[in-house]
Amino acid sequence: MENETILGEAWLRLAGFATRPDAGAIRPLFAADPERARRFTATLDDLTVDVSKTSIDGEALVALLDLAHAAGVDGFRRRLFAGAAVNSTEGRAAMHMALRGPADARLLATLPGGIDDASRLAAAERETMRDFVAGVHDGTLRGATGEPFDAVLNIGIGGSDLGPRMATEALTLAQGGKMRARFLSNVDGTGFAALARELDPARTLVLVASKTFTTLETMENARAARAWVAGALGEVAVATHFAALSTNLKAVAAFGIAPERVFGFRDWVGGRYSLWSPVGLSIALAAGWEVFQAMLDGAWAMDRHFRETDFAENLPVLLALVDVWHINVMGYRSHCALAYDDRLRRFPAYLQQLEMESNGKSVTLDGLKVERATCPVIFGEPGTDAQHSFMQLVHQGTQVVPVDFLLAATPDHDRPAAHFVLAANAFAQAEALLRGKTEAEVRAEMAASGASPGTIEAVAPHRVFSGDRPSVTILFRRLDGFTLGRLIALYEHKVAVLGAIWGINSFDQWGVELGKVLAGGILPELAGRAKPGAHDGSTAALIARFKALRGGK
Ligand code: F6P
Repeated sequence: MENETILGEAWLRLAGFATRPDAGAIRPLFAADPERARRFTATLDDLTVDVSKTSIDGEALVALLDLAHAAGVDGFRRRLFAGAAVNSTEGRAAMHMALRGPADARLLATLPGGIDDASRLAAAERETMRDFVAGVHDGTLRGATGEPFDAVLNIGIGGSDLGPRMATEALTLAQGGKMRARFLSNVDGTGFAALARELDPARTLVLVASKTFTTLETMENARAARAWVAGALGEVAVATHFAALSTNLKAVAAFGIAPERVFGFRDWVGGRYSLWSPVGLSIALAAGWEVFQAMLDGAWAMDRHFRETDFAENLPVLLALVDVWHINVMGYRSHCALAYDDRLRRFPAYLQQLEMESNGKSVTLDGLKVERATCPVIFGEPGTDAQHSFMQLVHQGTQVVPVDFLLAATPDHDRPAAHFVLAANAFAQAEALLRGKTEAEVRAEMAASGASPGTIEAVAPHRVFSGDRPSVTILFRRLDGFTLGRLIALYEHKVAVLGAIWGINSFDQWGVELGKVLAGGILPELAGRAKPGAHDGSTAALIARFKALRGGK
């Protein structure tokens, strides 16, 4: 009870900031404090997180840190690393950190059936993966016709696709890969048809990535790939061309994948945290084992930072508090991720699952309706492309959209001039959002360029920028495996801290279930194997129209 009072007071104190006359103002904070940039920047080695372009001042930061303490983030962090069942609705721990730590890290997962030495299990699985990767790369493991594999096709969706796909692109676009990696997620048959045209079954290794091995889309795509391989090379080829990455060993066996080609993991690895597990095999195959290991090492460095660092210097905690400020104090409802790096073009898609599937919740751990907003809508594109599409709204729209800018100081290509253009744009966007442009400035500028008074009158209001639009800049030396690992773990832990502050379960995803069940009912209706079910009027009419448009087929 006492804790709840303290927490209530911490929220109340924060709410007070929103009613101040200068709420949301950022520029005056820089004017008042020449040291602001330094004081509101935190680092982990070269990884630099600048939160100074937000309306959080010293007093607000103290209030936010108090909130984190009052919400029990410290206790949550301890329980998380102790392997407690933080995923309470499924009775599971969230021990993905064990997948990137050493075998003797002693991260234990407390499970209903006992205790797993998660670190040891993960390290053993990692050895098996490493041997497999080495075998594929050195040609010991070959396809059914004796040809070496030159392409890996990962079939999976959600966490079994977004993380591996994003990381593989990030780590191979500049340096090239050890082998081609392709990803099939959507059950839209067009995707598979395109891949089947591009890939040679005799040289393709197919990974069926599915934690549950029941996901409709993945199973449908896996069956298509199986038929494609078997059709070209004979049924016997399935044994050499397929591997499964899953926790459901029974279902894998039923699909016909040999036990020695199954890379298992435990249910203390959530789907959206599974790229560190065998689900990351495509990353290791495409980018190379050393790069994959560097990614694990980077994430483990962030794990230790998160676990051991005081909140005021703790990067995931600071990022979470900035989000709380924007969402719960300032009332902003969306969040934009802009990586100024083409290699991170799938990063926003990856973040959408990480953040929205984790924290898109409206019920507390106690089953009560949440009293305040939780996860915002996340979107993003690589910079500078984004500047030529939706950034208009971010600069001048009616809603304020906080932005995360991500940028490497050093590129991995040999066109420094291009990188300067890229970086100049990243810095300029953040500066423009902050600085804005007053009507007086616009009028003076237009007059100086010879615009007529009539044109100035008509156009000036359209050229005004409010400024004081917040952003966070995450700057690092270069985007290598180690840094990608640190970045992903940074966001993972930020999301977990937010969940702890909001009092919600960040590790389940019941919101995806209803649609799956309804699709299962509609499917036989579409295929003509069942009579029309009980639907709302719109759905019933659309299904009927769909069938009519297909000429009854
Ligand atoms: O979309 C819901 C979801 O359960 C995600 O959480 C998960 O990442 C995805 O489906 C895929 O699940 P699986 O790996 O079991 O096929």
